[in-house]
Amino acid sequence: METLNLAPATADKATRYQTLLPQIAALMAGEPDLIARMANTAAALKYGMDFFWVGFYLVKDGELVLGPFQGPIACTRIAHGRGVCGTAYAEARTVLVPDVNAFPGHIACSAESQSEIVVPKCDPKGDVLWILDVDSQHLNAFDDTDAHYLQTLMTFF
Ligand code: SME
Repeated sequence: METLNLAPATADKATRYQTLLPQIAALMAGEPDLIARMANTAAALKYGMDFFWVGFYLVKDGELVLGPFQGPIACTRIAHGRGVCGTAYAEARTVLVPDVNAFPGHIACSAESQSEIVVPKCDPKGDVLWILDVDSQHLNAFDDTDAHYLQTLMTFF
């Protein structure tokens, strides 16, 4: 696959995810390396869905360390329980934040980020392995549709 075939930007969000996710699955099918898979997933989501920032943080020695991402430079380490990402890690659940300025302890890597969704990936015991963080420059950009498709995407790994 050389390029992504995207639904028109005017299509509804579910249609855009439904068009994109099988192509991400196909990209992963030929590549077992985790970092390579994360890297192309970040690019496919950023450019396929027009997000502001898309990236992964991997759990290393009890904190989150920046992994493959697309977008402006970001914080490299996030402590367990800190900010949106650290909360998703500590609570092993998807965290949806309609307005980051209203989220206690939010870490502003970029002043442009206005809303955010963070989805954790857990091992079979329920321990978090890494998190996917998606940021938007718009308020209220994310909803249950994003949570559904991004959680589905995490099952591809
Ligand atoms: N806003 C996030 C930090 C990571 S970045 O925005 C890329 C947080 O509060 O966890």
